Amino acid sequence: MAGLIPQSFINDLIDRVDIVDVIDGRVALKKTGKNYSGLCPFHDEKSPSFSVSPDKQFFHCFGCQESGTALTFLMKFERMEFVEAVETLAKDMGLVVPREKSNRPYVEVDQGIYDALEGAERIYRKQLRGAEVAVGYLKGRGLTGVTARDFGIGYAPEGWQNVSEKLLAEGATSDALLKAGLTIKNDSGRVYDRFRHRIMFPIRDVRGRVIGFGGRKMGDEEGPKYLNSPETTVFSKGRELYGLYEARKAVRNIDRLLVVEGYMDVVALAQNGFPNAVATLGTATGEAHYHKLYRYTDEVICCFDGDKAGRSAAWRALESALPVLNEHRQLKFVFLPDGEDPDSLVRDQGPDAFTQFLNNATPGIEYLFSKLSEGLDLQSLDGRARFMGLANPFVEKIPDGILKDLVKARVRDIGGMAAPVTGSSRVPNRPIVDRGESSDVGSALAQKMLSMLLKAPNLWASLDESIQRDMLTQSRDMGLLGRLVNFLTDHPKADANEILIGWPEEREQGQLIDFAKKISASSRDAWPKELADGCTHLLHQQQKKQRQRQRAELLAQGDEQKILETLPVPTSRGDAAPKS
Ligand code: UTP
Ligand code: MN
Repeated sequence: MAGLIPQSFINDLIDRVDIVDVIDGRVALKKTGKNYSGLCPFHDEKSPSFSVSPDKQFFHCFGCQESGTALTFLMKFERMEFVEAVETLAKDMGLVVPREKSNRPYVEVDQGIYDALEGAERIYRKQLRGAEVAVGYLKGRGLTGVTARDFGIGYAPEGWQNVSEKLLAEGATSDALLKAGLTIKNDSGRVYDRFRHRIMFPIRDVRGRVIGFGGRKMGDEEGPKYLNSPETTVFSKGRELYGLYEARKAVRNIDRLLVVEGYMDVVALAQNGFPNAVATLGTATGEAHYHKLYRYTDEVICCFDGDKAGRSAAWRALESALPVLNEHRQLKFVFLPDGEDPDSLVRDQGPDAFTQFLNNATPGIEYLFSKLSEGLDLQSLDGRARFMGLANPFVEKIPDGILKDLVKARVRDIGGMAAPVTGSSRVPNRPIVDRGESSDVGSALAQKMLSMLLKAPNLWASLDESIQRDMLTQSRDMGLLGRLVNFLTDHPKADANEILIGWPEEREQGQLIDFAKKISASSRDAWPKELADGCTHLLHQQQKKQRQRQRAELLAQGDEQKILETLPVPTSRGDAAPKS
């Protein structure tokens, strides 16, 4: 018989698991500010009132009032028993569920580790105040006291047991110090402090708990420039990002996150007006990092050195991003001049210069294509074939969806499955070529029609022929919608992707993508009628406008006539003059 699951394990489990991960796989969630929302799985609804808070690790439905933790969610959603839900979560986290056997209760290992790390951080911070060399070093690098405080920067004093002795005196166990990575046990069994005489950067998880440290040496002492905490049960470099907690604290709604290479880059950027930078911890930017990043923002800009190492890091960063990309998630790259990092750049050239780099960032997919076509002659059949061969495995890494379809179609374009795409072959004739002055998206009704037509382009051909004809006649005055119906007339078989890819104008293409993504309130069955009614309505409006215009024109003509009548006819005067 399995024993009881210790309460401490359950607490620990709920502590580690991210409720957003648990729910996101089961309910489609959308980031709305700090929280996530979606359609409530526990009652029938059309607009989302189900909300998940990553901060509170809690879900709540404003419609049906269901609420709870990741664990209660699983129980309700999967109709699991408590034990089953615990086991499911534990399995996801790679943990084995302990059972209380008679008198050997499960010991909560991690809390001691967190406590030790927090204690160490406190000691390092306190030590910084009295350490002239360390303060001088930070000042020399341009850091203010405020920045040092915001990031909890400290100083690990000299001495082999200085800090561990203090922690032990405060009640930490030597086992916890070892497991926290604060101490090292050498082969002869001697235990000593890992960090000595270094500037200390505490690394926090998104909830603000200290999980590790990076320690920078200040001079040319022995040892690496940065010494980092080892992987521990609470610290995983492949998952954690330095500065994410601080960024989330400083910026309420993060619209973009910058990924940089070093601790000092994060800190210097924050001090110079970029509180949204995070750094990987001496490891490559991997898939797990992106999962985390895109949980808090829709746009990630990776900033790398322009040197060879930076470029190869960027390429690896792009590769590992592909499996998490979709049309909602933007990824861009910035390459800094050789020898510069964000820290040196903002210090030497100022924040505006750095902003310039951000504004000129290269979109990830563009970077992918330019990299893949490097050294290939895309004019030649052979070059194009090689391009397709190279591109396909990368494209396949992108999850199925709109983005993948778009990228695939572009690969086909470049690879020249069709003739190489030149402007004229893809620009539909009629009003699309005639840009007119309006590229406007029109009224709410027109927008709704755009959205329906993009989701179901075949609806156009199913409309009454007379409606189609009238719409085409009037299309010139119907902005984007007018151009779309022309496109559909020229390309009756085009699906949404072909429309988007074939669209000749970039800004409008962006607008169309937005419309294609819009969720419509009404059900698909109702669309044919809604579309036909919409057309009729728009045509009426157009006719009304036209009548008004005609009246105005007649009036103007009338005026002109009157004016002409009151004037002598030029020719007769011209004729008359030389005669007299
Ligand atoms: P860099 O060598 O680019 O240094 O390392 P940096 O960030 O510009 O640091 P400063 O400006 O000289 O202080 C980038 C990152 O690589 C990891 C660290 O995370 C560092 O921030 N690194 C580097 C190490 O872990 N150990 C090292 O010895 C060097
Ligand atoms: Mn640097």
